[in-house]
Amino acid sequence: NDKKKLIAANWKMNGDLAANEALLHAILAGIGDAACDLALAVPAPYLAQVQALTAGTVLALAAQDVSQHEAGAYTGEVSAAMLRDFGVRYTLVGHSERRQYHGETDQVVAQKAQRALAAGLTPIVCVGETLQEREAGQTEAVVRRQLAAVIQRNGHCISEVALAYEPVWAIGTGHTASPAQAQAVHAVLRAQLRAASAQAGRIRLLYGGSLNAANAAPLLAQPDIDGGLVGGASLKAPDFLAIIAAAH
Ligand code: G3H
Repeated sequence: NDKKKLIAANWKMNGDLAANEALLHAILAGIGDAACDLALAVPAPYLAQVQALTAGTVLALAAQDVSQHEAGAYTGEVSAAMLRDFGVRYTLVGHSERRQYHGETDQVVAQKAQRALAAGLTPIVCVGETLQEREAGQTEAVVRRQLAAVIQRNGHCISEVALAYEPVWAIGTGHTASPAQAQAVHAVLRAQLRAASAQAGRIRLLYGGSLNAANAAPLLAQPDIDGGLVGGASLKAPDFLAIIAAAH
């Protein structure tokens, strides 16, 4: 696997001006020549702060969500064009917390990916099964259904997306998928992408779910794992730096 890996932090709804600044200083002080691409998905109000503090560095800016609408009377929403205004390069789309707590359907997720692509952002589309679905033997069917909606709407430019496989049972739980479990699902996703695009080989498939300094290396060594989406461990500079060091 010779693709440059992508390590994306997802701060979720954490941070404040002072904590963000301290975290960024610590990350930048320790980062050296990172061998991978790096992105930070920060809460929308802090995009300007993080843009200013990371300008000219290896850290790219990401959003955690984007509206499926272009502009207009959608109170509380943030458009892809607004994100562009703040130098955003990537946006998470369809994170399981959005699907679970905010009712995002596969169709909405597919529309959000389309808006992001149209504005020149790289959507990091998140897919993954719940524990109940895994135990019922539905893992493959669930992730294939989630990805199919995105391919159907964005087929012509599907090679411009990134994908994150995040088993819901592994998010914030300390229970990581084993390297073999994660690779098996990534291989399914890769095959589905190959059927849709001749460029599928260059699409980056990230693993997320309790990724940490101790478990990152074997996961990131799998043939179809091209990076990581890091929640909790991205809020601690030493842990995040160790994950970055494992991505080469
Ligand atoms: O987007 C990140 C994931 O939800 C993983 O979160 O690393 O805290 O399990 P976690």
